[in-house]
Amino acid sequence: MTEIKISELLNKDKAGKIYKIKGWIRTARQSKNITFLEINDGSVINNLQIILEEKNIENYESLLDDLTTGSSIEIEGLLIESPAKGQEVELSASRIKIIGKCPSDLYPLQKKRHSFEYLRSILHLRSRTNTQGAVVRIRSTLSFSIHKFFQERGFLYIQTPIITGSDCEGAGEMFRVTTLDLANIQKNDEGLVDYNEDFFGKQTFLTVSGQLNVEPFCCSLGNVYTFGPTFRAEKSNTSRHCSEFWMIEPEIAFAGLKENMELAEDCLKYIMNELLILREEDLNFLDKWVENGLITKLKNIVNKSFKHITYAEAIDILANSKQQFEYPVFWGTDLQAEHERYITEKAFDCPVIVTNYPKEIKAFYMRLDDDEKTVSAMDVLVPGVGEIVGGSVREEREDVLIRRIKEMNLNIEDYIWYLELRKFGTIPHAGFGLGFDRLVQYSTGMTNIRDVIPYPRTPKNALF
Ligand code: 4AD
Ligand code: MG
Repeated sequence: MTEIKISELLNKDKAGKIYKIKGWIRTARQSKNITFLEINDGSVINNLQIILEEKNIENYESLLDDLTTGSSIEIEGLLIESPAKGQEVELSASRIKIIGKCPSDLYPLQKKRHSFEYLRSILHLRSRTNTQGAVVRIRSTLSFSIHKFFQERGFLYIQTPIITGSDCEGAGEMFRVTTLDLANIQKNDEGLVDYNEDFFGKQTFLTVSGQLNVEPFCCSLGNVYTFGPTFRAEKSNTSRHCSEFWMIEPEIAFAGLKENMELAEDCLKYIMNELLILREEDLNFLDKWVENGLITKLKNIVNKSFKHITYAEAIDILANSKQQFEYPVFWGTDLQAEHERYITEKAFDCPVIVTNYPKEIKAFYMRLDDDEKTVSAMDVLVPGVGEIVGGSVREEREDVLIRRIKEMNLNIEDYIWYLELRKFGTIPHAGFGLGFDRLVQYSTGMTNIRDVIPYPRTPKNALF
């Protein structure tokens, strides 16, 4: 007899044979001679209905007490076309074995709908819910599709370090990595912490971005990407910020803003298209229960062109809108979430790529435009989430880069190796960071980023 996943069983072609499945009871409806179980094994959002009839099962009555929500079981039975509405097939059980009991009075997941806040306190059980099951499967599919997209285009996957000595974004939002005894810190003659005594003999941090470390590979091997965890000690308690998140960062050689924008749009179109094909059931579920219109939204990503505007145009749109913003709008200000959402939701209702931001509000490595006021940056904004991609052309002129590092009060000594990429055979190149967790948020319609990350880390919160 074949042991099989429920995802493969749930269509009529499979009926008429005996199968074995293993999973967890979602619901049990018992009566004297017959019991209906809904079993989920994680392979698909839908449950398999099991019919247990007293006449077919040995010790039927003695099993009943243990057939509770949450118990794990193994079942063998004949798959039949279902006479009832709601499912195409069901399994008529001939043998059942309880693997792990689940005391219903203690089980934190009851049959009702639990709030997302409550579920965040039981992360170890959260993935047993329908919504989380869908989110986790979508997360996995998106991750694989991203690798596929870049691999098919010949990009090399580079593993950049998690522990680093350089602050890529220059925003000073880094978590320190140290083995110094915090209760007994050694100071040097100048009264400063002596990092010579630290594990690496210098100050080190968790990376905020793999970009600086991936650029050398772009400047030697051509198109590359990195996809890994990044960390930011920013105290933003919002629905789209996490202290630990994953980022996809491609870097394209001999390329400028146009190629960069095309790559970001192609990438999003490709992965959304794959998702619509591979995760249809999960998306249907989320469209019904989490975000009405989710599927249409994702199809629009695939089928419609993204809108392109400059930062200056974005400021004009915001300044001329009737909406009252909390943060004032003027040329030079950083776009806040409310501004980004107005542009992508109200002004256009589609993904919008905003380019050429003022240099003061962007990182030192972004290429200075000829007006010397703006840089060749590009952010992709999407409805609901706002900024999902941030990227730029990189400053490839050594003298301009030195000037920018100094202007931004960064320590030039830290960037000697980065400057050498410009000294020795420099090339125009560009790249971006696609925030993976915001992508999952967007693709699932979940409103809070904490609900799409297996173990979310936010200020004052690192459960499990
Ligand atoms: O715009 P950011 O800061 O860009 C960079 O880090 C560049 N070095 C990327 C590059 O050019 N290679 O971050 C990129 C993306 C954002 O657009 C956002 O989607 C996501 O990373 N992001 C966050 N996601 C969750 N929580 C946070 N705290 C995030 N900060 C940025
Ligand atoms: Mg950004």
